[in-house]
Amino acid sequence: MIIYKAKDYQDMSRKAANIISAQIIMKPNCVLGLATGSSPVGTYKQLIEWYNKGDLDFSQVTSINLDEYKGLSPENDQSYRYFMNANLFNHVNIDKSHTFVPNGLETDSEKACSTYNEIIHAQGGIDLQLLGLGRNGHIGFNEPGAAFEKETHCVNLTESTIEANKRFFASEKDVPRQAYTMGIKNIMQAKKILVVVSGEDKADAVEKAFFGPITPSVPASILQLHNDVTIVADEAALSKIS
Ligand code: F6R
Repeated sequence: MIIYKAKDYQDMSRKAANIISAQIIMKPNCVLGLATGSSPVGTYKQLIEWYNKGDLDFSQVTSINLDEYKGLSPENDQSYRYFMNANLFNHVNIDKSHTFVPNGLETDSEKACSTYNEIIHAQGGIDLQLLGLGRNGHIGFNEPGAAFEKETHCVNLTESTIEANKRFFASEKDVPRQAYTMGIKNIMQAKKILVVVSGEDKADAVEKAFFGPITPSVPASILQLHNDVTIVADEAALSKIS
C-alpha cells in the first residue's frame, strides 16, 4: 500500500489525476473503474484540463462505474449516470457506449445485478479502480455489515450514508433508500486501486480502514489485502495517522 500525502483537496486531485493519466497513456484501451461523490470531482476536472491541452486521449478508454441509485433515471440530476456525464464524459472524447453505470431504472434487482456483473466480466477486468471512502468506511455502496458482499448487489443504504448524501437532494426523504453497487470481489479483482480521500471528517475512516483490523464492519479494510493500492489523501484526512 502506498500513501501519498497531499496538502489539500486540489493537490490530492492533481496527484490522483496524474496516476489515472499514466494509466491511460500506458494503456490507451484501458478499463477504468470510476466513482462519483465529492472526492473525485477535482480529479475529473484536472483530467478534463489535460485532455483540453491535448495531453490525454480517452477515445479507446472503457469505464465501469461502481454504483447507481435504484429508481433514478439517467436524466435525474442526482443519478450517478448524470453525474458522470456532467463531471467527465461530456467533456472528453470517451465513447459513451463504452461507459457503464448500473441501470437504476431496472426494478428487478437480480436482473440489474447479474447484467452488470456480465458487463464487468465482458470487459476483461478493471485496470484501475478509483474509489472514494465513506465516513463509515464504505466503498462503492458496500456498507458495514456482517460479511463482505462479493459481486454486484442491491443494498439498503445505511442511515449514515443517507445523512451524508442528503446534501445533494431537496430533502432527506428524496434520498433513494436502495442502490446497486459492485461488490467487494469486483473491486478486489481490479489490477490497481486508487483511493482519494479528503477532509477531517474522513480521518477516522482512514485510520480504521488502512490501519485497523480487516473486518466487514469497515468494508474498505479489505483493501489492505490487495497488492496494488495507492491512497492519495490530504493532510486533514491523514490527521489521525502518525
Ligand atoms: C461513489 C461511491 C461512494 C463514495 C463515498 C465517498 O460512487 O461509491 O462510495 O465514494 O460515499 O463520497 P464522497 O466522495 O462524496 O465523500
